[in-house]
Amino acid sequence: MNTPLLIDGKAAAAQVLLHVREAVARLHEHDVQPALAVILVGSDPASQVYVRNKVLRAEEVGIRSLEHHLPSDTSTAHLLDLIARLNADCAVHGVLLQLPLPAHIDELRALQAISPDKDVDGFHSENVGGLSQGRAVLAPCTPSGCLYLLKQTCGDLRGKHAVVIGRSNIVGKPMAALLLQADCSVTVLHSRTPDPQALCRQADIVIAAVGRPRMIDASWLKPGAVVIDVGINRMDDNGASRLVGDVDFDSALTRVAAITPVPGGVGPMTIAFLMKNTVTAALNQHQAQRSLSEAVCHSTY
Ligand code: GUN
Repeated sequence: MNTPLLIDGKAAAAQVLLHVREAVARLHEHDVQPALAVILVGSDPASQVYVRNKVLRAEEVGIRSLEHHLPSDTSTAHLLDLIARLNADCAVHGVLLQLPLPAHIDELRALQAISPDKDVDGFHSENVGGLSQGRAVLAPCTPSGCLYLLKQTCGDLRGKHAVVIGRSNIVGKPMAALLLQADCSVTVLHSRTPDPQALCRQADIVIAAVGRPRMIDASWLKPGAVVIDVGINRMDDNGASRLVGDVDFDSALTRVAAITPVPGGVGPMTIAFLMKNTVTAALNQHQAQRSLSEAVCHSTY
């Protein structure tokens, strides 16, 4: 078999960000300054790192970022109040609520409070529903990034059998919806699936999003499969901390045609698509305003 291709998420993310930067520059020419508000409740160390990276990346591409760090004892009411103010602020185009939230906060209520137009994570039921109907909505960033890598690696996805391992709202379910939209035949495996290996071995494309370090080895994979590893698991490696995916990379390499490494695979794509969604949200909001103002100007008033 040929040497497996290592799918370079850093290079792909750089391509996406280049287009984002160009779009931001055009928006600046029209006096639109795309802005992303990021809300972090509490001090979860991993979330703090993610938020810092999102803010840094936004600045690099010319998107204004507004950070709201709230204490871990913030009430749901207080958080809803902040979201309402950000929704009403026409200088803010995207609102991202970093997950997980402290257990006492009503997560669903908070996510539903974000205006669907500003929901750059694609977690609002309006966007979730639109995605499953095949409408052009703001779609979740990680699955969008995975789809981009798959199209770049495989070209045409039509008719391919894709197996998604994991059924989270953030990755598994929207990933399945995006793959269906790309005309794949999709199977979703989860903790209650009997004999998941046997089903996975039928897949042309495997998306691993379970959050269990190195769970998927060569015995799960058909020769020539393309594997996208969404897992980012921190593991102790002889005293040193190291990131590993949900796929046993060395074992998988003996079977696959292509695979994403961890780190450097899916990770950079999530932030790139967050930036892309922020620009899309800014464009949509300003187009809506323009057509509104045109409608007002051409009306009989
Ligand atoms: N926590 C882990 N992944 C994500 C994500 O994609 N969006 C948000 N808001 N929080 C997360």
